[in-house]
Amino acid sequence: MPIDHEFGGQHTEIKLSIVEGYLNAFTTALRPHFMSLWYIDAFAGTGSRTVRTERRGADMVEMPVDELVEQRRGSAQIALDVRPQFDFIVFIEKNRSYVSALTDLAAKNLQRRIVVAEEDANSALKKLVANNRWDDKRAVVFLDPYGMEVEWSTLETLADTRAIDVWFLFPLAGLFRQATRKLTDIDEHKRAALTRMFGSDSWEAELYPDGAPDMFGVLPERRRELNPKGLEQYVQRRLGKIFGAVLTPLALPIDRAPQMFSLFLCISNKSPEAIGLATRIGKHLLDPKRHRIVRSIV
Ligand SMILES: C[S@@+](CC[C@H](N)C(=O)[O-])C[C@H]1O[C@@H](n2cnc3c(N)ncnc32)[C@H](O)[C@@H]1O
Repeated sequence: MPIDHEFGGQHTEIKLSIVEGYLNAFTTALRPHFMSLWYIDAFAGTGSRTVRTERRGADMVEMPVDELVEQRRGSAQIALDVRPQFDFIVFIEKNRSYVSALTDLAAKNLQRRIVVAEEDANSALKKLVANNRWDDKRAVVFLDPYGMEVEWSTLETLADTRAIDVWFLFPLAGLFRQATRKLTDIDEHKRAALTRMFGSDSWEAELYPDGAPDMFGVLPERRRELNPKGLEQYVQRRLGKIFGAVLTPLALPIDRAPQMFSLFLCISNKSPEAIGLATRIGKHLLDPKRHRIVRSIV
């Protein structure tokens, strides 16, 4: 009996299909050049996800539809299905019952090299990077948190390897909530979350610039002027300072406001060849037009 892990919406389907497309292209392109290709799923879930389509009563034009509950593949199963295969797969997950589902998944694939770690993603990734050499392998890390769990120091650690491509579902709505319009509305909790997310308190001066004093020398209230798109560009610029390249992200969901997430591809390798290859594949996958076409066919 699979464990129920219900999350996301239609944007989850798009996100997973993009990551799947990238993983297949990644191992196909790099297999001839590297003996060791790794996949690291830092918020791994269970390997499957429960998708519930609500019951709909009959109306003038449509027949009634019963509630439908389906199990679809989550990122962990998708990674196992990638061909050519990854040589080594790491699943990191904090929730104990999800870890046991991942352990079952590993047991069904005994011929594969799989490690399941029950741990916080930030500490597990830092250890994994510190305990391995990175000049002889390439890896993809998938960061798919519910909220603002990813710390800036973790992103710096991944970027410093120069060997890892990072898919990061950035929680734009979470940032929007924490970075309130007025600086004075940011309490200690929000301040700590923003500093953890951006690695220092420089966000304060960058997002809430000082205005010019009025004729009496009084400074105006400090406010965030950036809208969600502006915040997304701010995040991209920040990521661009530590990674070799960061592609323009895909705004999710694609079909309705408000934007909840930005799906980023961050390339840690600084060589033009590595950036060129990842960009060619990633840009195509992240093109919003591609997803609108898919939607209209379905
Ligand atoms: C959106 S789900 C990931 C879904 C998964 N990528 C999939 O496609 O099936 C987020 C997962 O991260 C886990 N999680 C939350 N905080 C975590 C943390 N700090 N470290 C590791 N896992 C965490 C949750 O238990 C949950 O399973």
